[in-house]
Amino acid sequence: MTRISIRAVMALSLALLVGACGDQGQQATAPAPTAGSKPSRLQDAEQVARGEAVYNAHCAECHGIRGVATPEWRKPGPDGKYPPPPLDDSAHAWHHPTVVLRKVIAKGSPAGMGNMPAWENKLSPQQIDDVIAYIKSLWSDEIYDRWLQIESQALAR
Ligand code: HEC
Repeated sequence: MTRISIRAVMALSLALLVGACGDQGQQATAPAPTAGSKPSRLQDAEQVARGEAVYNAHCAECHGIRGVATPEWRKPGPDGKYPPPPLDDSAHAWHHPTVVLRKVIAKGSPAGMGNMPAWENKLSPQQIDDVIAYIKSLWSDEIYDRWLQIESQALAR
């Protein structure tokens, strides 16, 4: 828990710096929410399908089909590092706003801290956004609503 929180704080401070870029990326892929309403749930089926293909090709081997690996994600492995956590709504992924998810996927684990590879040289920013859309599609409506609050707070900063 502490490990993830520290990383989230680090990532959030970076999010402050890149927030403006992040917003533009979001607008390019999601319809702009109408004034006064919550941002609408990303249901661009084509984007989710593209993200699913990226996910199954590059992520499923560690995070499991439909993001269900690893049930024992809180227990470090023999190498002292944490296993790939589930990316569905049973673990922690939904605690992160989009800017943080983008950074985790692009940069991977902080050096020496974990086994998450960096994807920025293998996937385009569009592919990373597509795979994030797919991961979000694995979350229940209730969890998605809670994530939206986290997202709005991050965007308001
Ligand atoms: C070689 C195994 C491996 C592959 C392949 C992999 N990951 Fe990971 N991933 C991990 C591990 C291990 C962690 C935990 C990181 C840590 O402890 O620093 C992680 C963490 C994450 C997190 C943070 C989750 C959280 O709860 O904070 C996200 C998001 C993520 N991965 C997305 C992806 C995506 C998207 C792909 C495919 C493009 C991918 N991963 C491919 C091993 C992998």
